[in-house]
Amino acid sequence: MTTKTRILYGGLRALSRALAKEEWQDTKYTILLDENTFQYCLPLLVSQVEALQEAEFIEVPVGEECKSLEVAAQVWQTLLEAGADRQSVVVNLGGGCVCDLGGYVAAGYKRGIRHINVPTTLLAMVDAAIGGKTAIDFGGVKNSLGHFYPSSLTVIEPAFLDTLPQTELLCGQMEMVKTAAVADPALFNELISTTDTSHLKEVARLKARVVKADPYDHGIRKILNFGHTFGHAIELYHGLPHGIAVGMGMKAAMYLSVKKLGLSEAVYTTYSQWLKEQLSAIHIPLPTFNLKDIEQMLPLMHQDKKNTADELRCVLLQDLGAAVIDITVSDHEVRDALLKLAR
Ligand SMILES: NC(=O)c1ccc[n+]([C@@H]2O[C@H](COP(=O)([O-])OP(=O)(O)OC[C@H]3O[C@@H](n4cnc5c(N)ncnc54)[C@H](O)[C@@H]3O)[C@@H](O)[C@H]2O)c1
Ligand SMILES: [Zn+2]
Repeated sequence: MTTKTRILYGGLRALSRALAKEEWQDTKYTILLDENTFQYCLPLLVSQVEALQEAEFIEVPVGEECKSLEVAAQVWQTLLEAGADRQSVVVNLGGGCVCDLGGYVAAGYKRGIRHINVPTTLLAMVDAAIGGKTAIDFGGVKNSLGHFYPSSLTVIEPAFLDTLPQTELLCGQMEMVKTAAVADPALFNELISTTDTSHLKEVARLKARVVKADPYDHGIRKILNFGHTFGHAIELYHGLPHGIAVGMGMKAAMYLSVKKLGLSEAVYTTYSQWLKEQLSAIHIPLPTFNLKDIEQMLPLMHQDKKNTADELRCVLLQDLGAAVIDITVSDHEVRDALLKLAR
């Protein structure tokens, strides 16, 4: 198994050059994809990467539905029937869901075979396809089965974004802003003054740097959970896409950061304004919560993997680029932040 991912920032051309090298000769590739990436991304991939022209492919359900033990078992079965051996390679062509599933499948097949991530959503390019976390959902709990199992290669090809729906783009932008908020103040300011995705490689590099410092998520890597304690609860309670909910969660976390850690009000206000504009472009208002809603959301937050039944722990900001992990937040403070969310 590889312990470190090589990230190819030069897109599919760089992948094509890499796979022409000796170490990839006589490799049998299986491309994992979903209905959308079959339609929108496979033609570009095989037209640019000669080594993949003869590859078999396996289609899995779109979205979170593919991250299941049943789907993983079907993929393993197909690999076995096709005679995939220890030299075989799984190529994950898709968003975070396909990449998470494909990494999980590769980790378990014949004690681990190589896999290549070809992320096709912005969120996967800047986040899910970098950092070696693989997972499926099990027992009703998201990402409950998984491994740290880095891809051999991850390829960043912005051309895939041309067909991505606007809401999915915004999900990725929210995670970009999150990474910049905790690790690069100048980049944060750039990101919230633009609507394009031109900084995606910078953000991918930034995530890779944080992961390198703490590959197994024991310390500094946890700063990437900024906005996620609130975000997960909003995602579950409202059924909103993950990235959008994280964008909202960051507003709540910044509100508490001002109160508890002295983050400047100006940062909170500027971010809140940017968030409002982005959400209005996709016609999703900031949710207004009442006390009854919040009573139902609190248990969701306590169940989140970082927390205990008695104590919530959040990543908050002293300043942009100065995140602090494991800040204890009381239920009272959660209520206050959520009641103010839509203001
Ligand atoms: N492993 C990690 O470190 C990590 C980090 C963050 C998120 N994740 C996981 O990632 C998943 C979310 O990933 P996502 O947001 O990429 O969602 P996704 O994989 O469901 O993709 C979103 C949608 O876009 C479609 N799509 C993908 N590429 C396209 C393209 N180029 N053109 C048109 N449509 C396209 C997909 O078919 C899907 O309908 C979650 O399961 C989350 O847990 C993992
Ligand atoms: Zn996230």
